[in-house]
Amino acid sequence: MQQKMSLEKLRVNLIIILILISSVPLVLFAIVVYRKEADLVRKKVLSHLKSIVAQNSLMVDEFRLERMRDLSLLAATIEAHGGECDRIHLKLMHKDRTIYKHIFFADKEGRIRCKTGKGHLFERGLVNQAWFKAAAKGKPFMGELTSREGKDRYDLLLSVPVRMANGTTIGVAGAIVDFDNIASIMKNTGIGQTGEIYILNKDGVFLTSTQVEEGRSGERMEPELFAGYFKEVGPNEYIDYRGKKVVRVFKKLSDSNWYLVGEQDATEVFKDVANLRNLFAGFVVLLIALITLIGYLISRKIVHLLKSAYEQKKELEIQVIQKDKLASMGLLTAGIAHELNTPLASALLYTQMLKEDARSTWPVALEKLSSIEGEIKRGSKIVKNLLDFSRQSQTDTVTTDVNEVLGKLLDISEQLCSDRGIEIKRTFEKKLPLVKGNANILHQVFMNIVANAVDAMEKGGTLSVLTRHIASLHKTVIEIQDTGTGIPEELLGDVFDPFFTTKPSGEGTGLGLAISYSMVRKMGGNIRATSTCATENSYPYQPTGTTFTIELPALDDDTQSTVKERMVKTQ
Ligand SMILES: Nc1ncnc2c1ncn2[C@@H]1O[C@H](COP(=O)(O)OP(=O)(O)OP(=O)(O)O)[C@@H](O)[C@H]1O
Ligand SMILES: [Mg+2]
Repeated sequence: MQQKMSLEKLRVNLIIILILISSVPLVLFAIVVYRKEADLVRKKVLSHLKSIVAQNSLMVDEFRLERMRDLSLLAATIEAHGGECDRIHLKLMHKDRTIYKHIFFADKEGRIRCKTGKGHLFERGLVNQAWFKAAAKGKPFMGELTSREGKDRYDLLLSVPVRMANGTTIGVAGAIVDFDNIASIMKNTGIGQTGEIYILNKDGVFLTSTQVEEGRSGERMEPELFAGYFKEVGPNEYIDYRGKKVVRVFKKLSDSNWYLVGEQDATEVFKDVANLRNLFAGFVVLLIALITLIGYLISRKIVHLLKSAYEQKKELEIQVIQKDKLASMGLLTAGIAHELNTPLASALLYTQMLKEDARSTWPVALEKLSSIEGEIKRGSKIVKNLLDFSRQSQTDTVTTDVNEVLGKLLDISEQLCSDRGIEIKRTFEKKLPLVKGNANILHQVFMNIVANAVDAMEKGGTLSVLTRHIASLHKTVIEIQDTGTGIPEELLGDVFDPFFTTKPSGEGTGLGLAISYSMVRKMGGNIRATSTCATENSYPYQPTGTTFTIELPALDDDTQSTVKERMVKTQ
């Protein structure tokens, strides 16, 4: 039981070790490959985002340049009109370019000389404003301006100086464009459903609308968020106002303090990476399951091998114990038998003499004397058996044809068997090699076993005798099988013990198998018994019976032929 438990534990341990040995590198390998792949996907996504941001910033630059060109043209027409506003040109420009909210011309003193678009343009004090000052000094200006339509909206303000041919600046031409016109030329195609493109100023104000939640144009980014905006969480990643991780790429637009930002939710960006991770995890789980199965099969095989080795060892131990028992019994019985032999022989002789005398003088005592004679003979038989049991010399290496010995024995037993309704089946291997062993002793061994088999089949049955040669093991195997009552499992280990008998007293000595065992072992062979016996749980007609398997060392081919040659010569 304990051995079974420890083998079970060994099996579990083997499986665990196998799983660990193979899974750890597998998992590591999967992690490394996954990381590499994930990195590649990340890089690909980022470079895609970068190229979209670069394209958009080019488009925005181009847009701003065009507006500057428009204003320069306006400035040129004012100059051509000798410093007066060309209203037709102004109106045409406003009509043609629907993007302009206002186009205007202010003189050096900051008075609006002409304008397009509805509503007031500026409060007073134009001359103090940065864009006006810059253009008045001869420098084109581009910047953002709080929209008058809503205080959270911003417009793009452009201004250029208006100069006369002699180079003197006579005023400023300016234009106001809604930032959403810039937003409309930016394209976020190719950056998924959560992709966004917008312009942010240096204070974290959204100059263009975002797609999310009806746009955030004019809104200022939460200060704590903006504080970390340019400090990256990971490479190009930050946590946005929704608490979501966002991958973004930004580019500072030329000649401005504006940033063009392209971003996409990390979950969408890394959807493929997540799929890849799931695929890898599935693959690894599958492989581990496969390894577990292989581990289970291998460990089962190993445990099976160990089990059979253990059983062989146990059998060997039993044989050693049996040998020891027999050896000590041998010494004891040899002494007893020797001491008993002489008085029994004398008692038999005197009884027989007494019987002769009594035949004529005391006939009534004749029957009792015959009984005494019978008992003494039985006693002598026991002593003879005991002597056989302890005898060492009879097993001198001689060669025997097992088929022949068995054949003769079965021929003699034929009559007795048929009287008891026992059928004999012989299955002899034809070219059975000779075995090392004395024919008389083998005859006695086989006879003991056959006699037991006949005793076990009181109601008739089948006695099967089989011989075969196992060349690989140099063994001849004899199987003597009966369909008798069988031996209960708990007694199977005792049948080779001297004096173990289940027969009524006076019928069996319990020495037959003990002697046979001792003889066979001395010949270098082995003898085993297996048996099926009716139990409480067995079916009513379940077959029962016992098989004795005797293994004897067979002669190898060379010795075989020399023996045969010798036999031919002596004939
Ligand atoms: N073929 C068998 N079928 C059932 N039981 C058997 C068989 N062979 C042996 N036994 C059991 O083993 C016991 C021991 O057998 P063993 O031949 O040593 O002694 P025995 O037959 O009782 O006496 P003896 O052989 O000296 O007459 C038997 O008493 C019997 O119980
Ligand atoms: Mg017997």
